[in-house]
Amino acid sequence: VVAVLVVGAGGVGLHYVRAGVDTVGEVDFSERLAIPPVAGSRVDAAGTRVFDLDIRAGETRFHDGPATRTAGVNGAFLGPTIRAHRGENVAFTVHNGLGETTSLHWHGMHVPAAMDGGPHQTVAPGETWTPKWTVAQPAATLWYHPHLHGKTAEHAYRGVSGMFILDDDDTAALNLPDTYGVDDLPVIVQDRDFDDGNQFDGSVPFLGNLGALGDEILVNGVLGPYTEVSTRLVRLRLLNASNARIYDFGFADDRRFSLVGTDGGLLAAPWRTTRLQLSPGERAEIVVAFRPGETTELRSYGGGEGLEGFGARINGGADRFDVLQFRAADRLTDTTEVPAVLGAAPDVDTDDVARARSFELAGREINGARMDMDRVDFAVREGSTEVWEVVNTNGYPHNFHVHDVRFQVLDVAGGAAPPPLRGWKDTVLLVPDRTYRLAMRFSDYSDPDSPYMYHCHLLTHEDEGMMGQFVVLGDGEEIGSVAGHDHP
Ligand code: C2O
Ligand code: CU
Repeated sequence: VVAVLVVGAGGVGLHYVRAGVDTVGEVDFSERLAIPPVAGSRVDAAGTRVFDLDIRAGETRFHDGPATRTAGVNGAFLGPTIRAHRGENVAFTVHNGLGETTSLHWHGMHVPAAMDGGPHQTVAPGETWTPKWTVAQPAATLWYHPHLHGKTAEHAYRGVSGMFILDDDDTAALNLPDTYGVDDLPVIVQDRDFDDGNQFDGSVPFLGNLGALGDEILVNGVLGPYTEVSTRLVRLRLLNASNARIYDFGFADDRRFSLVGTDGGLLAAPWRTTRLQLSPGERAEIVVAFRPGETTELRSYGGGEGLEGFGARINGGADRFDVLQFRAADRLTDTTEVPAVLGAAPDVDTDDVARARSFELAGREINGARMDMDRVDFAVREGSTEVWEVVNTNGYPHNFHVHDVRFQVLDVAGGAAPPPLRGWKDTVLLVPDRTYRLAMRFSDYSDPDSPYMYHCHLLTHEDEGMMGQFVVLGDGEEIGSVAGHDHP
């Protein structure tokens, strides 16, 4: 155990940095997994589905003794699962009852920039923000979280986030497990540190490159959870909602499972694997088969492929965790299957690329610059296709997330994208010194005044400036001024 002096928002203190955390076999799995409720909604006279969301502070009991001060949406920690169907018009009242300015961003959603909930769409305490849009993308597992520049890490760590599931007819016709809470489970994974008074300690160790890394794992807000299984196949919607931790998921007995979907929707075909790496912000839908009467666990086996050697806890690499226990009933119903053909493979047409751009991530900068709320870094043309070449030259991990679009990973370090990166993505882990080429098409929503973000999704990196802004312009439009937006 090494003591490291930390200088953080909470002042100066000692933060103990262990050389490696290994909770495998140490977790008692005594709490039943909570399933976030599906958000209630109403359909107004114009046919729009309206959701009421209230961001608020609260208290949550994770350990014996004092409750933990937390924050959530419509509750004390995390938020409801929002569900909407492709083609639907959706609208939200987002009330900020947190007592301080925040925002709510729809990660992975193709949405007008002014509705995006990024750093320019702040909601003052006591105010209500009312975004609306038409769902214009295929079924996928998305999520929502705060995006107030400089405060995203803190607000997300307290618990303001939730899942946003999009449905469509093609996916519903597939006979994948899809009974929410029964054989289709949200699995929101967050690592947390607790201080001696049971409060969240999101401070970053002095030598910690990645950000706040916790030594206990919450799934859907529950420490040491188990869930009962009543069907042979179960679909897990994995969301890495952690601030900095990179997971390498697998099962205790190394069983194979099928990856069926990634950030932006279903893969073309299932991919059978024993391990799945997810960096912060990434999602994956997997289908796992269980045998009657058995018990097994979902684990994380460290940082995963390309991150070997990131062994110290401050870099999040070699740590191993027990995550979630499955207890299969003695009789399992068996009605669903993993179809051999799932969705449409990403097919960005790169014959007609309007612009190629390159992005180098290092320290807390992208191309040598930190985020400036008043600087739009570039403009893309509505309807155009671009290829972005992204490289992390830093020696420790970053990832890369783009708002507004889903992208196709064309290649990695000049070779074919590995199978888990062959579906639609909006966030990709940047293993140091590999160039990732991303193809994306910017359709709809030109707005010279409202920028979209691109950034590292390790939240301390993002807050410290590893983020930039672009606008989508229609024919003849010029970049406007973002200065008119109110931001802190
Ligand atoms: Cu998950 Cu810019 O966001
Ligand atoms: Cu980063």
